[in-house]
Amino acid sequence: MQRIAVLAGDGIGQETMPEGLRVMRAVAERFGLPLRFEEFDFANCRYYEQHGQMMPSDWKDQIGGHDAIFYGAVGWPATVPDHVSLWGSLLQFRREFDQYVNLRPARLMPGVRSPLAGRQPGDIDMWIVRENTEGEYSSVGGRMYPGTEREIVLQETVMSRVGVDRVLRFAFELAASRPRARLTSATKSNGIAITMPYWDERVEAMAAQYPGVGVDKFHIDILCAHFVQRPQHFDVVVASNLFGDILSDLGPACTGTIAIAPSANLNPTREWPSLFEPVHGSAPDIAGKGIANPIGQIWAGAMMLDFLGHRAAHDAVMAAIETVLADPAAPKTRDLGGSASCTQLGQAIAEAAKIGA
Ligand code: NAD
Ligand code: IPM
Ligand code: MN
Repeated sequence: MQRIAVLAGDGIGQETMPEGLRVMRAVAERFGLPLRFEEFDFANCRYYEQHGQMMPSDWKDQIGGHDAIFYGAVGWPATVPDHVSLWGSLLQFRREFDQYVNLRPARLMPGVRSPLAGRQPGDIDMWIVRENTEGEYSSVGGRMYPGTEREIVLQETVMSRVGVDRVLRFAFELAASRPRARLTSATKSNGIAITMPYWDERVEAMAAQYPGVGVDKFHIDILCAHFVQRPQHFDVVVASNLFGDILSDLGPACTGTIAIAPSANLNPTREWPSLFEPVHGSAPDIAGKGIANPIGQIWAGAMMLDFLGHRAAHDAVMAAIETVLADPAAPKTRDLGGSASCTQLGQAIAEAAKIGA
């Protein structure tokens, strides 16, 4: 039996997670998968309001032995500051479970209109590999002379050789396995003149071990422009924690909606559970209305199935998502130009996944 810890989180996480689970259960039944979903009501802001912290002190014992974590979205800034809720939950998981790869596809799907003129499915099909445990997301720093004219805040970027090399290796391996075998590195070594030249240096060292992979690099500013103007160029894009965060909203936005994009926080050694979630957040502006698009959650579930060894079930979920997106008569949420509810779209995908698309 594979045990999956389920944390719905805040806002629309409460709406997308039931649809994610609906589809997971549909394929678990169809393929006879030995999956057990166990729901935990922490790592959300309601828990914080009751307990003054995001999670119980034994959270690592409670979910650290599971085979995977399926997360919704977290954050409710009306009651808990974002840095408190996120550093008390998601960012803890990434670090404590050493989920050093954040793998995020951006793919233009059939039936979805890109905001970029003239783009067809196939034109945008990239994997963003984001470093997920160090870099700009560091807790090294502080505030000096608080409340005075001399007040100073500083936060260091941390790059370790182990930390950089392991995510680069993952990205190069992924690129080497793809037909186009192209890897793009996001840098900013012209301005950020210590850590980013180091990043470039490690990319060059790794590239020497992968002669079959075509490598290029762009500074993050022009890279953002290229994402918009020639997204077809990109295959695997590897980036530091912050640059990867930005690119993994920009890439999916170029494919029509950020709401379909999934995020796999991987611990490739499998010493700890990996975590699967949508890229998007808790969307307080639409929470409670039942109009959220559940596809990011469902696609994240598909990546979880793949990571757990259930490739056929992953393929069935992806085929179901594509069939429903491509069918003009199928339900679509508002971000996709329709008027269906989160539940209606989730049900349609679950039905397609059950019967085989
Ligand atoms: P967001 O992704 O929550 O929302 C951005 C915009 O996209 C909003 O207009 C929202 O309505 C829309 N949107 C997002 N997901 C959607 C979906 N599934 N269907 C339809 N529309 C969708 O980003 P934000 O507003 O910057 O952040 C809101 C909260 O979420 C904050 O607390 C933030 O810290 C948190 N956050 C959490 C995660 C996470 O859990 N991984 C990721 C990003 C933001
Ligand atoms: C994401 C989110 C998080 C991040 C936030 C909510 C801390 O934007 O998963 O992309 O920056 O990693
Ligand atoms: Mn983000």
